[in-house]
Amino acid sequence: MSGNRSEVVEDLNRLMAEEAEAFLRYFQMRFRLRGKNRRTAEKFFEGALKETLEHADAIAKQIRSLGHIPTLHIHLSLGGGPMRPEEALAEALDVEQQALDAYKDFLPRVMGDPVLEDFIRKQIAVETEHVQEILDVVHAGPPLKLVAKLES
Ligand SMILES: [Fe+2]
Repeated sequence: MSGNRSEVVEDLNRLMAEEAEAFLRYFQMRFRLRGKNRRTAEKFFEGALKETLEHADAIAKQIRSLGHIPTLHIHLSLGGGPMRPEEALAEALDVEQQALDAYKDFLPRVMGDPVLEDFIRKQIAVETEHVQEILDVVHAGPPLKLVAKLES
């Protein structure tokens, strides 16, 4: 494993914070949705809420198994303007793409670690799929058809 352990833990804390921040963004964004396809988008955000929280939790457990207690730094302030479902999805796509990039950037640091390399590779696979699902919905355009897709 390249880099020392405490740097790896620091990076894991950052990845965890990113998931937790995404959770909070989605938590609030649901209430800004207005207009056509609102219900469909709400369902998407409900699923995304569950997933981001699960991911943050999984990372926290990795940190603990390295003998550390997770630390969490988030600076977040969210306005309450209304959003169309398409805008909200585009924003969710940005958030998911950022998470995917962060996992990819981190992977080289845990190469060769039997637990962490496997864990990060799985996260990359899951996030890649998630980004692709949102892209499919965004490209298909309205009416949004993400419920069936994301629950399949
Ligand atoms: Fe995630």
